[in-house]
Amino acid sequence: MRIVFIGPPGAGKGTQSLRLAEHLNVPPLSTGAMLRDATAKGSELGIESAKFMKQGQLVPDHLVEQILFQRLSEPDCAEGCIIDGFPRTVPQAEALDDWLAERQSPLEIVLELYVPFEELHRRLAGRGRADDSQEIVLKRLRAYDDLTRPLLDYYQGRSKLHRIDGLGSPDEVFERMLAAIKSVKPKQS
Ligand code: AP5
Ligand code: MG
Repeated sequence: MRIVFIGPPGAGKGTQSLRLAEHLNVPPLSTGAMLRDATAKGSELGIESAKFMKQGQLVPDHLVEQILFQRLSEPDCAEGCIIDGFPRTVPQAEALDDWLAERQSPLEIVLELYVPFEELHRRLAGRGRADDSQEIVLKRLRAYDDLTRPLLDYYQGRSKLHRIDGLGSPDEVFERMLAAIKSVKPKQS
């Protein structure tokens, strides 16, 4: 299965996508983690991306698309994957649709994790990643509202979107996700 997670910073995308990937036995792909890894390795793409990430801004589409599509082309993604943090803009969603259509491997389901603003702040304050300062978290939330939220309509219009309440324990959220996934009939190949 190919599944995409959408949600604001701190919604639990990383936490839940790792669990779901293990459950479905497919790889978890996080563009945030890939970009942080590229930065740590000092690649040109990583250094360029870090300038945006540090400011709480989205990395330009062409850089993220390059890193994601390269990873998606690897053999372990052939049977499916869980994508956390991509797409984050409508052009990214269109690029993903085109890429998957060329390979006749459509996206089955998009899970939106929704969590109230105050809880997002509480979770991120307790974590302490380099981009978790209060000022940068506000910018990341603004980027979500301005650039990523329109994707919800994009996927709703394609009947792919399932909204998941992200409040409660990680186990409770996981159970809600499984119920949503069960409601989607896997595409015959
Ligand atoms: P990215 O790494 O994707 O960060 P983010 O979207 O801001 O989200 P987080 O990773 O902070 O939160 P999460 O939803 O994964 O929650 P988590 O499970 O960690 O992106 C970072 C940056 O990279 C972006 O700002 C951008 O610059 C760039 N980027 C990445 N992708 C891009 C793209 N496609 N285009 C352009 N730029 C891109 O949980 C958060 C905390 O809450 C944890 O401490 C966790 O333990 C806790 N928690 C989780 N679930 C629960 C629960 N149910 N109850 C209580 N606590 C919980
Ligand atoms: Mg994450």
